[in-house]
Amino acid sequence: MNRSRLMHAAATAATLGTAATLGTACQLSAPADEEPLVDLDTIRSELRLDADSFLNTGTRSLHLERNLRFASARSGADADNGRALFGLAADGETIDTSGALFEGPSLAFEGLVVSNGRACASCHRGRSLSFGMPPPPIDAHIPDTDPVLTGVDADAQGDPEALEVLVDLGLFKYRPNRFNPARPAEDPYRRVFFWRKSPPLVNVVFSRGFLLDGRARVMFEAARGAVFSHTQSSDQRFDDLFSLPDAFDMEAFMFEQLSDPRLGALLDENHPDHDALAGDPFHTVELRTHAARRGKRVFIRDCMSCHNTPNVFNDLANVQGLGSDPNRPPTFPAFGPNTGRAFNIGVSERNAHGLRFTEPASDGSFAPVVIPLINENGSVDEHTVTFDIGLAATTGRAEDIGRFKVPQLRNIRSLGPYFHDNSAATLADVVEYFNSDAYNESADGRRHRIRQSRRERRDLVRFLEAL
Ligand code: HEC
Ligand code: HEC
Repeated sequence: MNRSRLMHAAATAATLGTAATLGTACQLSAPADEEPLVDLDTIRSELRLDADSFLNTGTRSLHLERNLRFASARSGADADNGRALFGLAADGETIDTSGALFEGPSLAFEGLVVSNGRACASCHRGRSLSFGMPPPPIDAHIPDTDPVLTGVDADAQGDPEALEVLVDLGLFKYRPNRFNPARPAEDPYRRVFFWRKSPPLVNVVFSRGFLLDGRARVMFEAARGAVFSHTQSSDQRFDDLFSLPDAFDMEAFMFEQLSDPRLGALLDENHPDHDALAGDPFHTVELRTHAARRGKRVFIRDCMSCHNTPNVFNDLANVQGLGSDPNRPPTFPAFGPNTGRAFNIGVSERNAHGLRFTEPASDGSFAPVVIPLINENGSVDEHTVTFDIGLAATTGRAEDIGRFKVPQLRNIRSLGPYFHDNSAATLADVVEYFNSDAYNESADGRRHRIRQSRRERRDLVRFLEAL
């Protein structure tokens, strides 16, 4: 049996249930265009999802589980108020910052906080953009008088290239540890910075961990960080202007934003459709063409080791959220261990846009930031930062270098450009990336190599377009 025949048989075996051996699957193999029936257990066993060789090692110590566990809005939270705090009018489209600026006298700030006019909706534009940004160049869609552009120094803090990178590539510059109270002012971690897109906020309720590397364990951390970093040039916090009930209302608003209302059944075990969605990963996916159906098999074989949450297609591995377990008290130090699995698939090492990761000094010179990172054996390396180190900037672990959370894939055709650095313009570019050396030689790509024929790549794109 040649390789592609074997792959086909493996995919077909997945369609026939765990009892089918490869041999019988060959005899029973369905016509190439018939849509396979697959359930999650079958995919798990056929694709060796539990194989040790594929788990990224460090996250194992977090006791990741594979149950369907999602966060939910707090009872009593007011999504409508959350929308106003987010900076959107009732149409979910028009920016209205009147209730969304978090300014005023602050004891923590030791003075008067004056906003630069940016609200959440400045960077997470309305519903028609799935609460993300329009594609770059940004100034083709947004006037240069808009606070998202006039307020850029709050994030960039004098970096001469930040406005250009934002306009041309749609990437914001900011320091993830800028407000981390566990890091003293002179700690080099405070100076590490990222260039990242503002992601669409659709199906966020299915996330394990928030922000592109999953470092925020609850929405409160993500939203508070956004208010602090994007509205002030100063490193001074103003916690007293951002209340927990406000954050819960904003969370309720964001958690309501589903790409398809049917997905809501996954959040409620008692919903009559829950088991159908939980048991069949493709229950809500309608595939109208033969090519898309063939692409689905390629997706099961090559992509579902990571994109495995049924009907959502982010990664379902998770640990208990804060407050739900004696080992995860609500008082857990800020920016501690993440709540889901993250992978290094090589996107940041590739640095396709040639982004600069050195910091500018006042004399016009540039130098890299050097931080200590701890290895699994307890030794410490002085690491020179030359690309976006992803989750490692939060955990301080060498193993987390370049790790990002696995994004959801519903409605993905309209959510480009793709990856945390907007480095893939189209879904075809994404599929090419997964076939490249950059992916196949990356820390996690090495454990799950991908080589597809031209026809498989075309079919896979058709499948992704249908999600
Ligand atoms: C100046 C632009 C900007 C503003 C203003 C902004 N964000 Fe963001 N947002 C970003 C960027 C950039 C990221 C990616 C951050 C990262 O990965 O470190 C992000 C990520 C997020 C995420 C993570 C989504 C996910 O899939 O995990 C959430 C949630 C979020 N923002 C909510 C908010 C809220 C709530 C506000 C208002 C309080 C806000 N943002 C204001 C730029 C912005
Ligand atoms: C080893 C785990 C892994 C595998 C296997 C994998 N992905 Fe991903 N995928 C990721 C991670 C992590 C990201 C985020 C990378 C980033 O932003 O830097 C991602 C990002 C994406 C994105 C971009 C989404 C967005 O909103 O920007 C798409 C599309 C995607 N993957 C599709 C696929 C397809 C198709 C396959 C199979 C050919 C695949 N993935 C295989 C982990 C994986």
